[in-house]
Formats: sequence, structure tokens, C-alpha cells
Amino acid sequence: MKTLIRNGRIVTAVDDYHADILIEGGQIAAIAKSLENVEADRVIDARGRLVIPGGIDPHTHMELPFGGTSASDTFETGTRAAAFGGTTTIIDFAVQYKGQSLAQAVDAWHAKAQGNTSIDYGFHLICTDIPDERLPEMKSMIREGISSFKLFMAYPGVFLVDDATIYKAMKTAGHNGGLICMHAENGVVIDAIVKQALAEGKTDPKYHALTRPTKAEAEGVHRAIALAEIAETAVYIVHLSCSDALDEVTRARDMGTPAYAETCPQYLFLDYSVYEKPGFEGAKYVMTPPIREQWNQEKLWRGLKFNDLQVVSTDHCPFCFKEQKELGRGDFSKIPNGGPGVENRMSLIFNGGVAQGRISLNRFVEITSTAAAKIFGLFPRKGTIAVGSDADIVIFDPNEELEISAKTHHMNVDYSCYEGWKVKGATKTVLSRGELVIEEGTYVGKPGMGQFVKRGEALRF
Ligand code: URP
Ligand code: ZN
Ligand code: ZN
Repeated sequence: MKTLIRNGRIVTAVDDYHADILIEGGQIAAIAKSLENVEADRVIDARGRLVIPGGIDPHTHMELPFGGTSASDTFETGTRAAAFGGTTTIIDFAVQYKGQSLAQAVDAWHAKAQGNTSIDYGFHLICTDIPDERLPEMKSMIREGISSFKLFMAYPGVFLVDDATIYKAMKTAGHNGGLICMHAENGVVIDAIVKQALAEGKTDPKYHALTRPTKAEAEGVHRAIALAEIAETAVYIVHLSCSDALDEVTRARDMGTPAYAETCPQYLFLDYSVYEKPGFEGAKYVMTPPIREQWNQEKLWRGLKFNDLQVVSTDHCPFCFKEQKELGRGDFSKIPNGGPGVENRMSLIFNGGVAQGRISLNRFVEITSTAAAKIFGLFPRKGTIAVGSDADIVIFDPNEELEISAKTHHMNVDYSCYEGWKVKGATKTVLSRGELVIEEGTYVGKPGMGQFVKRGEALRF
């Protein structure tokens, strides 16, 4: 099967030019100013549109069990929604529960995903139980293409691991081609503040935000970087939400420390006022870290512009408002943590970043695709448009206006954090390894067409 994309404006993290692309065997076979004499089974006219590498969202939680329920998007619904939004690869988080081997944890996530996804997927592994004798299992995981691990400084008794464990895991992963992703918040102190708030009868959703100070996040980031420095390795901070935390990453990077970090659209576009919405509405935005005061947003954009933040992921972890967020009515600490976003990331970042003049088009591609590919061992197979790369390609209309709404989105969740927002920039057509998934806004893919991607060593810059 040969596919030809003609007349498009190809934009990568470094290039911007008009050319035709020939796809064969799922990969990009040729790029030339004109391929008009080439025979193809399918020709896609991309005139007036951008042709960009498929988005890579390195932080999703499909079907994640959390707080007595599970994230409402399955791998089937979540990856279809991702494709609608221009994402062609997700890296989801498998979870190792206490007493499980790392292999058991990954097997369970393979069982959920295999045969169900519309786009390619990889796994990070959340480790909750890694005594010394289990550390060698991390090396086996890296060999199996799971080259990154998430550790938590938050959620004592559930996910939290202590500093010695973090240090040893960093040393083991880092010295064997792996990378630790850190949920950096001082969860022990946060738990004390939460208990005190509840004892004072403060139960509304807004207290989720008011009990998680930015300094608790900044302290976690500082500690994570310090532990990585002691272990002589890199660290990747997930879902960084605020200026205080960013300052810690910036300081470290200025000193030459290999500290990397992502932020998410919710921290770039939403602010604390969402928790002051009437009734129980604020529960829709209960995620961790919480949404911060508005002034943090421009600091995060500045971090993205100057590369103190490298990636925009979503932390997609949806729970329905009606049936699931309800679990925390009368006690904010029982509201399942997380929100939807995998479908909206590319358009939101294009609109807020490129259309509003905060970042260049090349930087847009870099923070939504290329940097994640490089950090997580997918580059140059994914994250760029080049001969030999997977033909994960998005044809994007930079001028089309899109209205975001739960009525029209494809995520399996009954609300949108951006209900009614009008954004400029829409995904029109999506190819995953050369196969059409979305054609002019219509799903033409099949669950199961996505494949598990074994990732190489992390951080191959
Ligand atoms: O609230 C969030 N972020 N839920 C997902 C779990 C996590 O910590 O990433
Ligand atoms: Zn987290
Ligand atoms: Zn997460």
C-alpha cells in the first residue's frame, strides 16, 4: 500500500517547507519537492494545511483504578479520542501493586490494551514496591521496551515510596538506560493538612486545592532533583503545575543538571477560580497537583518557550462527574483525582501557543511530539517527519475554529474542562504507521490497529 500526501506544508521541530511525502510499508519512504509522477494507491491533498508529526502524549491513564473506581476511558475509547485530537502515540502508566513483580504489573496492562487501541502505545511503570531484590527487574523492563518508571512522593499508604527507594531506583534505572518520572509533591505534609481541613469541616472540592500548597510541590521537585544528582542521573518531573516548582527545575538546569519536566494544558489554561464554581462543580477539576492561581500560567508558558519545560502531556485520567466524582461529595479527599484532556491537547496548545504568539510552530511540534520521543526512547522512529520514520502523520488545519464540548468530544466522560471554548487549529486527517485513523474528521480506523511500541533507552538527545 502506497500513500502520497501532496502539497502540504511540512513542519517538524526544526523544518518548515512545502513538499510531498510518499508512505510505504507504514514508514515514510520519500520526501521531495514534487512526487507527482509517483503511482500511489491513495493520494491525500494537504494544500493549505500543516503536515506535522503525530502527537505523542507521554502521560495518560486509561482504565486506571483510583479511589474505588476506574478512569472512564478504556484503551479503546481513549485512544480513539486521542486520534481525533491528533495524537498518534500515548505512553500510559501500568501500575505495580504491592507484592506484585514488575512483569505481573505490565502483563495486566498489556491485557487491557492489546487489540483495543487505534494508535500506538507504550507503557511507563508505576512502581510501588521495589525492595533491593526487585531492583534487577527494572533492568529486565528496560530491555523489554519499558524504559521509564514513575515513582510517587505523594499518596502515603497507596503509591508513596520513601527517599531511599527513590534513590536506589534512580541509580538502577539511570545507569541502565532508564528514566525515573517523578510525581513530586510532599505527600506526607499534604496528608497532615488534609486531615486538619477535614477535622475543621472543610469538605468542599476547593479544599483539594487549598490543602496542596505550591511549596509542597516545589519541595518535591527540589528533593527529586537532589536525589537524582546524588544518584548521578537524570530525572523527569511529571505534571508540573506552578511557578514555585518550575523555579526548582530552572535552577537545576542552569547548573547543568539533567532535569526535565512536563506541564499539562490544565495548568496553562485554567486557574484556581474553577474550584469556586457553584455546588459540587469544582469536583470536575480535582486533579493532582491542583489547578493553581492564574499568574502561574505565563510562567509556565515562559518555561516552555525557553526549554525549562520540554513537554506538554495531558495526564488524561477522566472520571465522570455524575457517577464518579460524586464519590467525594461531603469529603473532597474521596473525589477521584484526575480529569480528561487527551483529545484537546494539540488544538489547545496550537491555539494558546502558536495562534496567540507565545511559541513558534516548530516549538509547538517539539513540545507536543518530538521532545517526548527523544526523552522516552522513541526518536527518530516517532516524533518527526523523515525518511525511515513511522508514518505517524497529522494533517492539521491552522485556520479552522473548533468548539470544544462534551456534546461532541469522543472521550468517554460526561464533561469537558473547556466546555464551549473556541480554539483555532483543528486535526483533520490522521495516519498511524501509514494507515488512516481519522479522515477529514471522521473515524475510519479500527480498535486493534495500534501496536505496543518497545521503547529504546531514554534521553537519546
Ligand atoms: O490527578 C491525577 N493526576 N491523577 C492521575 C494520577 C497521577 O498522579 O498522575
Ligand atoms: Zn502523578
Ligand atoms: Zn498522571
